[in-house]
Amino acid sequence: MTNAELIIEAKKAREFAYAPYSHFMVGAALETKDGKVYRGCNVENSAYGPTNCAERTAFFKAISEGDREFTRIAIVGAMEGIEADQPCAPCGVCRQVMNEFCDHDTFEIILADGKGGELVFTLREMLPTVFGGLPIPKEGN
Ligand code: THU
Repeated sequence: MTNAELIIEAKKAREFAYAPYSHFMVGAALETKDGKVYRGCNVENSAYGPTNCAERTAFFKAISEGDREFTRIAIVGAMEGIEADQPCAPCGVCRQVMNEFCDHDTFEIILADGKGGELVFTLREMLPTVFGGLPIPKEGN
């Protein structure tokens, strides 16, 4: 699958976005190492806090189906009723989730640029330093 095809998958995912509060509709398409694609959309909530981003929806769908190895994610976001006209970068929480499951140098984050093209970043470019777990205390400390 090409990056452009994965962006089309993200656009299809965006059609199901549930965003009655922000009216900002996001779709994501996450590709596994064996070529499967999990789609995700944002799912908002009247209490705001429980809102889940499109990217995490795609990741959690995949993880809960037993897939843990990923190659790329495509993301498309824009206000309801319009085609995306600028790139939608993943939020920090979603980058942290990507960090949990993806290789920093090979996992690619593909953003539709809104002009028919794409921007491609590695996870390391989008998350150059990261919290990677609790430090393990040295013996004697
Ligand atoms: N949102 C995403 O789904 N992904 C992003 O990368 C950025 C933000 C959602 C969350 C919320 O439903 C809406 O966009 C506005 O922040």
